[in-house]
Amino acid sequence: MLRRFVVLIALVLAPLAAQAALKPGAPTVIITGANRGIGLELARQYAARDWNVIATTRRKADDPGLADLRAIQAKHPQLVIERIDVSDTSTIRAVAEKYRDQPIDVLINNAANVEATFQADLDKVNTPFEKIDFDAARTDFDVNALGPMRMIQAFMPHVERSKQKKIVNITSFIGSFGRFGGDSAMGMNYGASKAALNMYSRKLSHAVKPKGIIVALMEPVLVASKPGVAGSNPMARPVEEEIAKLIKEIDGLTMERSGRITNWTTGEIDPF
Ligand SMILES: NC(=O)c1ccc[n+]([C@@H]2O[C@H](COP(=O)([O-])OP(=O)(O)OC[C@H]3O[C@@H](n4cnc5c(N)ncnc54)[C@H](OP(=O)(O)O)[C@@H]3O)[C@@H](O)[C@H]2O)c1
Repeated sequence: MLRRFVVLIALVLAPLAAQAALKPGAPTVIITGANRGIGLELARQYAARDWNVIATTRRKADDPGLADLRAIQAKHPQLVIERIDVSDTSTIRAVAEKYRDQPIDVLINNAANVEATFQADLDKVNTPFEKIDFDAARTDFDVNALGPMRMIQAFMPHVERSKQKKIVNITSFIGSFGRFGGDSAMGMNYGASKAALNMYSRKLSHAVKPKGIIVALMEPVLVASKPGVAGSNPMARPVEEEIAKLIKEIDGLTMERSGRITNWTTGEIDPF
């Protein structure tokens, strides 16, 4: 009788045991835009290293676009999926509140208002000045510059109480004055929004230095993160290779790199 009861209890609890949950004591990363591209690969590689991963996406739980993330979760139940639209403060605060007791070692602001294919990205960045749609431009600023700042404001207490205390903002040299971006008309809105992110990050690095928090800007050369990139340009590098390099740079971050732009493809400091 007792044996039957124990088996019954085990059967009832089995699905719970398989549920996704963060592991107490493991280092923790939170990633925005984790359902595809660079964010998805970050989630995959951090999960494979046994980190806790809070993989966030603006998509609803039943969206077919979450299949790749769910497949990673099936292998690594310490990856949890949460809904965050970085342009919507309430979605950010709800997740921050849910994990209020969870230290977060690394906050990666990866999401950006970019397209699902390289061709669509090119069409957008080649929009001439005369055809700028300023409502669309406002979305670029909202997602690419204000989105990371909203995340940082909400998750600062979680980062502050962690061991590693690292904030990583993914930028692009299209937003650089000193490297390519400033010498080309390409990507006016995208570039201006990333330049704003760069300045926010630099200023923030000074504000949080006394707390021992690092605010790093990271940019690649060109990552084959979506259909159409690979083969389009000899500089395009495979996403697995590039994200392994990015994680190595994040692992090695020190306060000297705070407020500066690290190019994770070359390992060098890039100009603003
Ligand atoms: N790939 C490169 O060579 C390259 C070069 C320089 C910089 N970057 C930067 O690297 C980051 C990732 O780029 P990627 O190539 O991986 O792009 P991607 O594959 O197009 O992924 C963009 C991600 O951002 C998400 N996103 C867009 N708007 C959002 C919002 N309002 N809230 C939350 N998530 C949102 C997308 O979600 P949906 O799927 O729902 O649209 C998607 O998950 C970006 O910051 C980009 O600027 C990339």
